[in-house]
Amino acid sequence: MELTFAACFLTFLISFLCVKKTNAQLTPLYYQTSCPTAEAIIRPVVQQAVQRDPRMAASLLRLHFHDCFVNGCDGSVLLDDTSTFTGEKSAGPNLNSLRGFEVIDNIKAAVEKSCNSVVSCADILAIAARDAVVLAGGPSWTPMLGRRDSRTASASTANTVMPAPNDTLGIIISKFRAVGLSVQDCVTLSGAHTIGRARCSSFSARLYNFGNTGNPDPAINPFYLNTLRGICPRGGNANAVTSLDQRTPDRFDNSYFTNLRINEGLLQSDQELFSTTGASTTALVNLYSNNQIVFFQNFQNSMINMGNIKPLTGNNGEIRTNCRKVN
Ligand code: HEM
Repeated sequence: MELTFAACFLTFLISFLCVKKTNAQLTPLYYQTSCPTAEAIIRPVVQQAVQRDPRMAASLLRLHFHDCFVNGCDGSVLLDDTSTFTGEKSAGPNLNSLRGFEVIDNIKAAVEKSCNSVVSCADILAIAARDAVVLAGGPSWTPMLGRRDSRTASASTANTVMPAPNDTLGIIISKFRAVGLSVQDCVTLSGAHTIGRARCSSFSARLYNFGNTGNPDPAINPFYLNTLRGICPRGGNANAVTSLDQRTPDRFDNSYFTNLRINEGLLQSDQELFSTTGASTTALVNLYSNNQIVFFQNFQNSMINMGNIKPLTGNNGEIRTNCRKVN
């Protein structure tokens, strides 16, 4: 009898701990009674924005990533600077680079009309990211919901924790680990670079003076190097942009991984997933480039993992009425 009780207690404890780890507070049904139309309101706004500007799918996906990595998925990336803090929009990885804030404003305005002060900006980012991927031809998943919005943001935290395009693979992996994401999540989520654009400033050191050697990165194939030098001449416009995936720039597919295998990754952080000698990431790049179905399945899971990073729930944070400002 005592043994049975002990076994039951142990089972309870284990399942409690497991559920805690996967974020018990978030649930796909969070707005089922408070705002059942939330997702139906958000989808057409994203659709319209992507129809007008196909790159917007990439920009919305990236916003969710940049939100989640800095103190968790709490809508902090959307806050404008105030007299009391310099927000994440001013941080190096974001300034003159993050896009889509007006689309989030439009979504928020539309949602507020039907459901006043109910749906958080952090959840809007998660839903818009999913809708964006689907519109670009990628997989769908059911986002976990119930995040609340932060009352503050930090440019300096963003500067420290965000992966940089010239970080080595080891540093990138440690930055993913720091937010509870695995090497597999890192490779899989990097596949988001199958859509969108990057500025010359994010990769031009690779073209002329890689690691201060005075030479280009040996892991760029010569034809691709020529193309990129045409787009980003020495001393040219640092804000000129090119596609992260030259083959199918606006289509969410697995060609990003195929590009890496022929040394056509745009960022150093992309190419190192394949080219780093002895790295465990190479096998995953090969797998995804051979099998889009597995990439899509793993991408859904990794997006949910990323969306689970340290959400504010319960009485923490607030539901902002304007995503740019605390209430
Ligand atoms: C692995 C570490 C990563 C690094 C170092 C990195 C870095 C970058 C950089 C430098 C850009 C171009 C920014 C510019 O030049 O303006 C970019 C664009 C982009 N990133 Fe990442 N990224 C990483 C991971 C991710 C992840 C995990 C996602 C999403 C799940 C993501 C989604 C995107 C998208 C979609 C774009 C294109 C955005 C647009 O066209 O507006 N990235 N990334």
